[in-house]
Amino acid sequence: MVLFSVRDLSVEAYTAAGTVMPVRRFDLTLNEGDIVGVIGESGSGKTTAVRSMIGLLERNVHIVDGDIRFRGDTIRSNEANRFDTVRGRSIGMVFQSPQRSLNPVRTIASQIGEVLTVLRPDMTRDERQDRMRHVMSSVGFSDVERVLRSYPHALSGGMCQRAAIAAAIAPEPSILIADEATSALDVTTQAEVVTLLKHVTLESDRALVFVTHDILLAAELCSRIVVMYAGEIVEEGLTEQVVNRPRHPYSQALLSAVPLWEPKTSLKGIAGRPPRVLKGFTGCGFADRCAHVREDCRTTIDLQEVAGNHKVRCVLVGDSEDAREAGIGV
Ligand SMILES: Nc1ncnc2c1ncn2[C@@H]1O[C@H](COP(=O)(O)OP(=O)(O)OP(=O)(O)O)[C@@H](O)[C@H]1O
Ligand SMILES: [Mg+2]
Repeated sequence: MVLFSVRDLSVEAYTAAGTVMPVRRFDLTLNEGDIVGVIGESGSGKTTAVRSMIGLLERNVHIVDGDIRFRGDTIRSNEANRFDTVRGRSIGMVFQSPQRSLNPVRTIASQIGEVLTVLRPDMTRDERQDRMRHVMSSVGFSDVERVLRSYPHALSGGMCQRAAIAAAIAPEPSILIADEATSALDVTTQAEVVTLLKHVTLESDRALVFVTHDILLAAELCSRIVVMYAGEIVEEGLTEQVVNRPRHPYSQALLSAVPLWEPKTSLKGIAGRPPRVLKGFTGCGFADRCAHVREDCRTTIDLQEVAGNHKVRCVLVGDSEDAREAGIGV
């Protein structure tokens, strides 16, 4: 069943240098059990897109267009704004550094307790205590009582992140958003936390949105992948479709920049830098860095289906000869 949908989301940020558009025409659908990876280089709009899903934006950043629904109910439209009905309660968030999610001067018990008091007033005090202990053991703590009595500084980075995940899932949200939630951890701890995120997602038929720079990690964990560039989704599909056969020239360049399945193949960087997308910008953000650029790349381009579930935002998709040459076509 469709848990959550975002249609045509556009976000503006007001800066001294003018109005920029960190997210343009962003669409996302989440079903129960979906694990969706959002990848793209720094500044492509990943954080702004997922924070928009719960209306958690900085003061100079505003959603200017878009329709957001949770289980069919409108959360945001051009007439309505009801993020407070879902934030934390239906959609939980895990941040990059546990220090940002956890308060250093309060024990873990008091923090998870407060989350439950605020977000689950329907529960009795005993039910909240039970729920707290239950989530702490489901994130893998065996010495639950000791950890609950601890302050964050007494715990390792991995333990803090597990406690932050426990706090996020305590109110029983249907969706978890993890924004670079494993980036600050060492590789072994990262693997543990990724396994945990998968476990807590699948055990309760949640959906997980996993934002990361780490394509290998996304490929391992996610069932679907969304590739963002300059505020737009340039490609999306099942993980194997995007990873094994990237179609958009940016995804192709991005994937050839990481040692994917064949560590021996030579790695390529992507020449140039992403553009600063000012309000009024149209066309493909990658055009200036793309070897296949054409005049019509400067016009508005829609996402087009190239195979079941696999969509690409590139003018070459509609042109069989150029597409074949660029390795984009069927
Ligand atoms: N508060 C803000 N004020 C001004 N510009 C902003 C603000 N937030 C985001 N932006 C703009 O939006 C762009 C996208 O930012 P965002 O943080 O969403 O990217 P990201 O893909 O999450 O990057 P990273 O991988 O580094 O986390 C930035 O390059 C910046 O130009
Ligand atoms: Mg980010």
